[in-house]
Amino acid sequence: MIATQTQILLAARPEGLPRDTDFKLVSVPIPTPGAGEVLVRSIYLSLDPAMRGWMDDRRSYLPPIQLGEVMRGLAVGEVVDSRDPAFRPGQRVAALTGWQEYAVLPAKELTAIPDEVSLPLALGPLGMTGMTAYFGLLDVGVPQAGETVLVSGAAGAVGSLVGQIAKIEGCRVVGIAGSDDKCRWLTNELGFDAAINYKTTDDLYAALREACPKGVDVYFDNVGGPLLDMALGLLNFGARVVICGAISIYNATEPPPGPANYLSLLVNRARMQGFIVFDYAKRYGEAVAAISKWLAEGKIEARHDIVEGLENAPSALLRLFDGSNQGKLMVRVAPEPEAKVP
Ligand SMILES: NC(=O)c1ccc[n+]([C@@H]2O[C@H](COP(=O)([O-])OP(=O)(O)OC[C@H]3O[C@@H](n4cnc5c(N)ncnc54)[C@H](OP(=O)(O)O)[C@@H]3O)[C@@H](O)[C@H]2O)c1
Repeated sequence: MIATQTQILLAARPEGLPRDTDFKLVSVPIPTPGAGEVLVRSIYLSLDPAMRGWMDDRRSYLPPIQLGEVMRGLAVGEVVDSRDPAFRPGQRVAALTGWQEYAVLPAKELTAIPDEVSLPLALGPLGMTGMTAYFGLLDVGVPQAGETVLVSGAAGAVGSLVGQIAKIEGCRVVGIAGSDDKCRWLTNELGFDAAINYKTTDDLYAALREACPKGVDVYFDNVGGPLLDMALGLLNFGARVVICGAISIYNATEPPPGPANYLSLLVNRARMQGFIVFDYAKRYGEAVAAISKWLAEGKIEARHDIVEGLENAPSALLRLFDGSNQGKLMVRVAPEPEAKVP
């Protein structure tokens, strides 16, 4: 009997928030690797806000997912079968497997995960999330000790790391997040100097001004929309605005209004710059070394939010947009292999 696996395909292009009917769950035979290829079993699948953009038929930094194609996604898992000498069965790897239980991929597209790194950490602070926070903040934001760093989406996977790295750099750090619980976590456990609940604060601009009495030198933006506009109004001379993402507009069905306060960039000779983490791929080792050290020293804490079962990926993706994820969101596709007894 041929062994089969579950895949989730893009069935329709969403209008606004994705719905169940935009996805199709199918059962197909598990593929066999050819020369130079590896069969990978996914264990944790990363769920990322960017997936919403990949579902649209529009020019971006990656081609759109085609209708009927497996949803694109990054996973960590283990090698089941290898036709390449660089990988052996049982080895743990990260790869763009897509939303499926098994994937055959060219060996050159796999990244080996060191034995001492847990799989959730390899998707979180030591994976794309950590690389985004590290290079976005340090390379694009260039924070200096004593400066004020304001972060939106601050309790999220990327934002929480950005704030902690900015603290390590000696900055005053202010976070914007969507619940009192998240704000308490930022200030009580992660060492943020202040955190503001953007959903319940009446005069948000006044609250931000109070929390950033010397103005904002680096605004790390995960959210876009009105929060970006407010932050532009708080910029200091020579400030840097890091455009990491704009989750508030990913499901917009109409073009969102532009920021009204953009002349603040001119007045303050400030810079607003976007970046894509993949452009830093050659330097990931630098970030992994620094973040591993900070994790070992207890200077960085990361939360994972794990949803059970690949079939729940479509509904779990929505948690990024309603803010119910608590840290790096991922789906457990399969149980982790038992630890080897020495
Ligand atoms: N440039 C790159 O290369 C790159 C790479 C990876 C990720 N990113 C971007 O980084 C950002 C964070 O990604 P992540 O994976 O770390 O996700 P995340 O922050 O863990 O989860 C998304 C969070 O966004 C917040 N949010 C949702 N809708 C919002 C809205 N309308 N207004 C304000 N906040 C809203 C929610 O938190 P609240 O409870 O606070 O609302 C939610 O928990 C995203 O914009 C993503 O696209 C960019």
